[in-house]
Amino acid sequence: MRVLAAAARRAEQGQPLFNLAAGQPSTPAPAPVLAAAHQALDSQILGYTETPGIAPLRRAISGHYRDRYALDVDPDDIVVTTGSSGGFLLAFLAAFDVGSRVGLARPGYPAYRNILHALGCEVVDLPCGPETRYQPTAAMIDGLGLDGLVVASPANPTGTMLDPVELAQLATHCADTGVRLVSDEIYHGITYSGQTSCSWATNRSGFVVNSFSKYFSMTGWRIGWLLVPHDLTDVLDALGGNLAICPPAPAQYAALAAFDGYDECDRHVVRYAENRRLLLNGLRRLGIDRLAPADGAFYVYADISHLTDDSAAFCAQLLDRAGVAAAPGIDFDQVDGHRFLRFSFAGSTATVIGALAALEEFLNER
Ligand SMILES: Cc1ncc(COP(=O)(O)O)c(C=O)c1O
Repeated sequence: MRVLAAAARRAEQGQPLFNLAAGQPSTPAPAPVLAAAHQALDSQILGYTETPGIAPLRRAISGHYRDRYALDVDPDDIVVTTGSSGGFLLAFLAAFDVGSRVGLARPGYPAYRNILHALGCEVVDLPCGPETRYQPTAAMIDGLGLDGLVVASPANPTGTMLDPVELAQLATHCADTGVRLVSDEIYHGITYSGQTSCSWATNRSGFVVNSFSKYFSMTGWRIGWLLVPHDLTDVLDALGGNLAICPPAPAQYAALAAFDGYDECDRHVVRYAENRRLLLNGLRRLGIDRLAPADGAFYVYADISHLTDDSAAFCAQLLDRAGVAAAPGIDFDQVDGHRFLRFSFAGSTATVIGALAALEEFLNER
C-alpha cells in the first residue's frame, strides 16, 4: 500500500510510472454489470436486503457452480458478502475462537494473518517453497493440532495452484481430522495452465470464499460470496445481520448480470496471458529467473536475492529511479520476503513492456 501511495504521488506529478504493484484489474466491470447498475439505480429502492443476499443473486451464483464446475450448490448454502474480505471476517468469526490454531501458507495474502490476529487466533506458519509450488500439503499439516487451514489456489503472491487431486486430498484430510478448511477461490477463472477445482467438490465441511473482484473485474463494488457449511448457516446469518446487515444492495443487483459477462472477462484473461508471457520472458532475459510458476492470478513472485537482501529498499529505489512499482515480498512473508518481489501483470500490455525496458535500464545502471 505504501508503494501504491508513492506511485500515485509520482503519477500526480506527471512522472513516468509503470505500475506492476496493483493487485487488481485495470478494467471496469463487464458491460452487462454496468447496465444493470444503471437500471437498479433508476428503478430500485435499494434499501437493506436479506442478510445473506438477494435470492436471485444466490440463484445466479448457484447457476455459476452448475455451469462452470458441474457442481450442485443449493442457493441456501450461499451467502453474499462485502467482497471476499467481508467473507473472511464472517467465516473466521463463525469457525474459530480466541486461541484457535489456523495454518497459513507463507508466503501468503497478508489479510488472512491480520484478520486472524485481530480475532485473537494463533496463526501457524506453513513455510512453503518451490518444492510444493508454494502450497501446503496434507503431510505438512499432520500433527500440528490445527483448528483451521486457509488455502488459496491460485494464490497471491505466487499465482501457484493446487491441482484438483491435491486440493481434494487437503479437503479430505481436513474433514477427517476436524480441521476447518477455508478455500480461497477468488482467482478462479484467471488461469494459464493446470485446472482449478472447488473444495466443495470433495467435502462440504469447510468454507469456500469467492468474489466478483478479480475475474469479474469488480474490486471496488465490494461484493463476493461464501459457500457455508451446514452447521454454521445460522451463525453466519446472525453474524452477517449484526456486523453489516447486508452486503451493498446496488452491487448485488449489478452483480446479477456478471454471469452474462463471461466473454468480456475471458478477453481480459487473454490479455493477462500475453502480459504474463512477456513478463516471464523479459524477467528471465534480465537474469531474474527464479520465478514461482505463475499458474493463475496475475502475479509473478520473483526471488531477487542475487540483487538485494532488502526487497523493500529495492522496491523504493526501483520506483524512484525507474518509475516501476512492484510489491516487496515482505508484505507476504515476514521471514523470507526480504528476498522476493511481486510483479502484477493485471495492467495493460504497454505497461508491462515499458516496465521491462525501465527495469533493464535500472539494472544496467546499478
Ligand atoms: C488471495 C486474495 N484473497 C482475497 C482478496 C480480497 O479481495 P476482495 O475483498 O476484493 O474480494 C485478495 C485481494 O487482493 C486476494 O489477493
